[in-house]
Amino acid sequence: MTEPFDAIVLGAGGAGLMCAFTAGQLGKRVLIVDHADAPGKKILISGGGRCNFTNLHTAADRYLSANPHFAKSALGRYGASDFIALVDKHRIAWHEKTLGQLFCDGSARQIVAMLLAECEAGEVAIRLDSPVRDVTHTDGRFTVAHGDRAASAPALVIATGGPSIPKLGATGFAYDLARRFGLKVVEPRPALVPLTLPQDEALFRELSGVATPVVARAGRATFAEAALFTHRGLSGPAILQVSSYWRHGEEIGVDFLPDQPAGWLLEAKRARPRATLKSALPLPDRLAAAIAERLALDGELGRQRDAALTQAERRLADWRFRPNGTEGFAKAEVTVGGISTADLSSKTMEARRMPGLYAVGEAVDVTGWLGGYNFQWAWASGWAAGRAI
Ligand code: FDA
Repeated sequence: MTEPFDAIVLGAGGAGLMCAFTAGQLGKRVLIVDHADAPGKKILISGGGRCNFTNLHTAADRYLSANPHFAKSALGRYGASDFIALVDKHRIAWHEKTLGQLFCDGSARQIVAMLLAECEAGEVAIRLDSPVRDVTHTDGRFTVAHGDRAASAPALVIATGGPSIPKLGATGFAYDLARRFGLKVVEPRPALVPLTLPQDEALFRELSGVATPVVARAGRATFAEAALFTHRGLSGPAILQVSSYWRHGEEIGVDFLPDQPAGWLLEAKRARPRATLKSALPLPDRLAAAIAERLALDGELGRQRDAALTQAERRLADWRFRPNGTEGFAKAEVTVGGISTADLSSKTMEARRMPGLYAVGEAVDVTGWLGGYNFQWAWASGWAAGRAI
């Protein structure tokens, strides 16, 4: 027997849950189907278990997409303040950590519990442990065979996310399904992901565990946050941020001393001529040693030519690394690329040429910066589709 619904949402992550309860509370009969054994698994592990659920500075220019304007409509209609109101309604205590990033004081579990309570209020049916076996479309209805059951509805929402962190049940299912219904997919690649360095950068790979505040750049994108050296290359928030903009074969630039005024090394030479470059670098010891070795300015500062020190200062302000890759989808927090926004309405998330088919959340070619922006997109796009179903 095929059970009838008004909408079937594939994926019980942040976007799918938000979409389902929004529609459910507007009187729609909604079914969520997920192959995982629990809803919101990425929410649970996010923000170190405290879920960085939104960002006060949410704006479309903090998202990557082939169409940089696409996210404006949904983010404009369901913003950070709307989600904060929901969190407050459920009496979940939260705080701003830094840079507008809002976290639960307690646990990410509270966010999942809140979304499930809202689903209950909207009488949403949730079926977990239910792999989708088949999706067909006939006579204006989508039929979803899942587990040993089947359901049909005039609206189908793809909310199965991107392929980042497959061990949590992430798949490229959204793209396969979208393609089957004639939607294009912008090539997906891992984002918010550590970058790997080649063997000839062994000097830096030996610094595993050293962190320092930097300004990191890839193309025109710049981020002032911490960088962290790992045994495979570079990580930390500044590097994760630029990884979303980085393309294979390109260099990234790192300003190791963003707060030092121009000419500081010449000034150090005059003030402390007996100091070495290593001791003059206001950086963690091991990093200062590696950089001094690379710059090969041996001996006291007082013995260095001014031109050599000026050159060293320039290199420190724009140290070039040429990563040889990333740590891949296994370690990527999100996926850049996905279902093409050209095929979707920015207001409703509905496919332009396939009425009744919607795509929300990370499955879509909209990817936020690190810091709560990706959940805000999941909430906003889920809400937009939920209202439109
Ligand atoms: P999401 O991936 O959450 O959900 C998709 C659902 O679909 C899953 O339940 C999955 O099981 C299901 N599914 C997949 N394939 C299926 C199939 N074939 N059949 C049925 N179901 C299927 N963002 C942020 O803003 N703040 C933060 O603090 C963090 N922290 C963070 C930490 C880590 C470690 C990661 C990996 C990611 C983050 N993120 C984040 C990113 C954030 O988790 C992500 O952008 C959202 O969870 C995306 O929500 P979606 O609902 O679109 O997909």
